Amino acid sequence: MEDNNNKMDKIVVLDFGSQYSHLICRRIREANVYCELVPYNTPAKALKEMDPKGIIFSGGPASVYAKGAPKPDRQIFAMGKPILGICYGHQVLVDNFGGKVKKAASREYGRAGLKIDDDSDLFKNLDTSINCWMSHGDAAEKVPEGFKVIGHTENSQSAAIGSRERKMYGIQFHPEVVHTERGMQILKNFAQEISGAKPEWDMQSFIDTTVKEIREQVGEKRVLAAVSGGIDSTTVAALMHRAIGKQLSCVFINHGLLRQDEEKEVVRLFKEHLGIDLIYVNAEKRFLSRLKGVSDPEKKRKIIGDQFAKEFVAVAKKHGPFQWLAQGTLYPDVIESGVSKGPAAVIKTHHNVGGLPKWLKLQVIEPLRFLYKDEVRKVAKLLEVPDELLKRHPFPGPGLAVRIIGAITPEKTRIAKHASKLVEDELKAAGYYDKVWQAYAAVGDDRAVGVLGDERVYGHIVMVRVVESIDAMTADWTRLPYDVIERISNRITNEVEGATWVTYAVSSKPPATIEPQ
Ligand code: XMP
Repeated sequence: MEDNNNKMDKIVVLDFGSQYSHLICRRIREANVYCELVPYNTPAKALKEMDPKGIIFSGGPASVYAKGAPKPDRQIFAMGKPILGICYGHQVLVDNFGGKVKKAASREYGRAGLKIDDDSDLFKNLDTSINCWMSHGDAAEKVPEGFKVIGHTENSQSAAIGSRERKMYGIQFHPEVVHTERGMQILKNFAQEISGAKPEWDMQSFIDTTVKEIREQVGEKRVLAAVSGGIDSTTVAALMHRAIGKQLSCVFINHGLLRQDEEKEVVRLFKEHLGIDLIYVNAEKRFLSRLKGVSDPEKKRKIIGDQFAKEFVAVAKKHGPFQWLAQGTLYPDVIESGVSKGPAAVIKTHHNVGGLPKWLKLQVIEPLRFLYKDEVRKVAKLLEVPDELLKRHPFPGPGLAVRIIGAITPEKTRIAKHASKLVEDELKAAGYYDKVWQAYAAVGDDRAVGVLGDERVYGHIVMVRVVESIDAMTADWTRLPYDVIERISNRITNEVEGATWVTYAVSSKPPATIEPQ
């Protein structure tokens, strides 16, 4: 899809590998200024073409003096654009203009008090001192010529520097993290005041421009979209539908490993609420027969991914021809963050509708590819996607296959489905459902003895997992009150046939993952 945001005022963040690079981008967008993240070594020529109003250098793990330290194209400094260097980016700035960076006498990690020495531009509308978040071992020792100190901390006399003439600023701390007081104001000052970017970025204008673009791009052609009932694919469908109406066909494939009644709810949501025709495929038997006896988690994922592709092709043939395939790819998946990808190896193969044969000749359209998840939620709300869907916990594509440890059997599937529903119901009743990231019951082949009535039963052990998380990269188990755990446990052993014991998973991620498989 074309970059529909080309004409909009924007800030560009050069990514030097900080874990916070995407966060800087999100915060600038929260200030209603469109922002993109690009690799640190993006040539000045390419940046000129992007025509940003201002440029931010992110933090990063390197030391500017280390061999092979990532440096930007020096021509960028001559572009006449405002620059804000954050942490490592601050040191890049200092180094470039002949200042000196050295190992700080004492490393600063965590909160520090910043005394503001000049509140005329970058620190406009702030108090005389703020708490800020530091994370660095190097510090600027000599401030480059033409720059002056605009803020300092106890350990860092030049924690913030600036040159009004050049419109360039360097700050040692991270304004993008919530621990920095009024960090948003600092980023807003840079984006809107210093760079003069107009605050044009909001989700209604995103919808309007994207709808127009989809129409131009697709013309009279037909589009196929796979939907799961999750927020991303539903939002893609709603957006495409608004743009091209009946030229869009949505397909929902039931692999038999969904949450209780999920297929009914998705069909209802699309048909009744969104007014979108849905091609419903009940492929339960075909998936389950291929999964029979398979216990290796990665094999399960591969089989499910492969069967999805097969089902999808069958739909495309039967209902086609289609020329476009719409997908719910989001910005973080488009942008590989970081200087190098590092060891971010695939820990689990996540499936999507990839691996489609070339002869289908489907061109891919990804209308959400510029959005972050929180922005997708806003778009969904504006498109009247109902709250119950927005609030629903994320659910993995392979569904219960990754929550059933070992081979998938009808009995284990029934137990996982039913017990998970009880977990959800009890969390809703206790007011916890909306506060946690995911909650479910998993089941494996481990058994334990229980007594039901007068009968001794050798039943399944059900594992309840409830986690809190911001982005699923890390997660912690939820400290539920004992009485809520008790109710969940009682209901599972009383109501789910074949379940005799209930355990609660108390492993955080890392080292554990959210799903057991
Ligand atoms: P893990 O288990 O890796 O999960 O901590 C992180 C997030 O990803 C979801 N997840 C998946 N989603 N296909 C998906 O579409 C998968 O194979 C898959 N495995 C895990 C998981 O539910 C959690 O939100």
